[in-house]
Amino acid sequence: MTRKTSPAVPPAPEAADANAPNRMWGGRFDTSPDAVMEAINASVDFDRRLYAEDIAGSIAHVTMLARQGIVTQEDADAITQGLGRVRAEIEAGEFPFDRALEDIHMNVEARLAALIGPAAGRLHTARSRNDQVATDLRLWLRARLDEADEACRDLQAALIDRAEEHAATVMPGFTHLQTAQPVSFGHHLLAYVEMIGRDRGRIADCRRRLNESPLGAAALAGTSYPIDRAMTAALLGFDRPAANSIDAVSDRDFVIEALAAAGLIAMHLSRFAEELVLWSSAQFGFVTLSDRFSTGSSIMPQKRNPDAAELVRGKSGRITGALVALLTMMKGLALTYSKDMQEDKEPLFDAFDSLALCLAATTGMVRDMTVHADAMARAAGAGHATATELADWLVQEAGLPFREAHAIAGRIVRHAEERGCELATLALADLQAIEPRITQDALALLDPATAIGRRTSEGGTAPGEVAKQVASARRRFLQGPAEAGRTRRMESPIR
Ligand code: ARG
Repeated sequence: MTRKTSPAVPPAPEAADANAPNRMWGGRFDTSPDAVMEAINASVDFDRRLYAEDIAGSIAHVTMLARQGIVTQEDADAITQGLGRVRAEIEAGEFPFDRALEDIHMNVEARLAALIGPAAGRLHTARSRNDQVATDLRLWLRARLDEADEACRDLQAALIDRAEEHAATVMPGFTHLQTAQPVSFGHHLLAYVEMIGRDRGRIADCRRRLNESPLGAAALAGTSYPIDRAMTAALLGFDRPAANSIDAVSDRDFVIEALAAAGLIAMHLSRFAEELVLWSSAQFGFVTLSDRFSTGSSIMPQKRNPDAAELVRGKSGRITGALVALLTMMKGLALTYSKDMQEDKEPLFDAFDSLALCLAATTGMVRDMTVHADAMARAAGAGHATATELADWLVQEAGLPFREAHAIAGRIVRHAEERGCELATLALADLQAIEPRITQDALALLDPATAIGRRTSEGGTAPGEVAKQVASARRRFLQGPAEAGRTRRMESPIR
């Protein structure tokens, strides 16, 4: 199968003529593209981020071509070494990126030709940019998913630590943003640990489906060369080759799944950010965010603004936007590849950059924030937050049906409101005037700390139960083989 004759070799970028057709595909073209065509077509300004994955994919491909006798070992070695030089040039900031060469794939290949000569033209044997870009993007995203998982884990660790510290700190729990029942602040934080745990499940799920190799699908139909797709898949850490070449080049489900997972994380972070904004206001005063995660006002000297939290909340919009952009971009595309799909990259890159920032900022805020347990306790005692305790006591101790107990507690709340005082500060005689069966025992339950201590049902807010949840969360989310099977950014074997 070894090819003895060299295919036409593109000239080095330095020798390019501005009016000549594209050097990589211009065989049947007479003139160069219009400036607008170049501007709308070129992706190298953003897809250069895929350089490491592109080079790793090319090295795997040419290693396989040599093993299969499709190119000589000599050419494969020259290509592999040349790609190493290209990589070094890019990392040193010395690479001559050229928009006329459209994208990172053709920039790398053209530079390789300039560096090593005719052998470079053999790299693209049995391959297309269609399987190449799908491979690069999967590799890139796989590394981002692993980083996102690690960042989620860091956030969980921070939340669990603070939850343990505040298992017995009483705060008001809300529904409708109205005071509902007292809860443990630690319990509230652990709610986010569960959300992030589900997020990590989605990341793992997405990674599992993503980890198939499109390489060797070629343009769409496979190839007549005797390639070994299992070999390139293994070299790149994929679990297996993608089963169908048509699907392999037209699928961007992995991008959409990753953005959906990212969108859910961003939504969770945004809800927490909204709570931080509320809690750090003078009106709540539940927490103070550290100087490291706050900003001042250029006009109002007293201000201390929760900008990091606001930006976490704000950036969720662009992450969700990326998901919607991809779903919309893909939905009308007939199989297989269409250039529309080049539009997958900027939203994806931006979403994962934003997500990394949001996760890191949230973890920082959680670790640094000062918690004002006194203000939380005061608020927990306000708004008649323990009215449910009274109703429950009437059921449990006086044998009333819950609906009747609810009505009695409601009358007592109204009485407190008329008196302009809190439920918990009413005298026993006041309560007994409304419901004679009420005793001193019931009065004790109106204290928020007592109230949370009684909610010992599984998953409930009693400090002892919260301590159990802390231990369980540590076991479920922070222990175990988190790093197994993970890859960091694709490293070229020849570095
Ligand atoms: N820059 C292109 C992209 O990102 C690479 C694939 C080009 N394929 C093609 N048939 N023109 O989608």
